[in-house]
Amino acid sequence: MESEPIILALCCHYCAYAAADMAGSMRLQYPSSVRVLRFPCTGKIEVNYVLSAFERGIDGIMVAGCLEGGCHYLEGNLRARRRIERAQQFLDEIGLGAGRLEMFNLSSAEGPRFAEIATEMHERIVKLGPSPLRRERAAVMAGVEKIAQESLAALAGETK
Ligand code: FES
Repeated sequence: MESEPIILALCCHYCAYAAADMAGSMRLQYPSSVRVLRFPCTGKIEVNYVLSAFERGIDGIMVAGCLEGGCHYLEGNLRARRRIERAQQFLDEIGLGAGRLEMFNLSSAEGPRFAEIATEMHERIVKLGPSPLRRERAAVMAGVEKIAQESLAALAGETK
């Protein structure tokens, strides 16, 4: 559907992605608008990466990492939180609104919580409406594919 929001869930490999995977294996429902992408750690997600995703017309982004104190790269999730806060300020300044971006922390055992926050994020973006930078769905989805390939490349680089 052209009007359905397009939301990225940028998940760290260790906790958030495992929680998303658990949500899937428990057959927990969350909106199909949320596309899960896996990163080695949220600390690898730069402000520019997030902003360029918005530039491609993504409606919302949730960044999900390990619990504070539980990052496998020690402070990656703390660095990520600072970057996400900077990106939120910028989104406010340019009129897209900080609410389109949120960071969450969760453990690998929190499949149900992943489904909950994905649903919350979907509802929030529906309320906010489409991004002012939103383009045709097919064009945005092509951008999502590019972002997915970049996240896979980051992961492959990490596991070499
Ligand atoms: Fe999960 Fe760093 S490994 S946030």
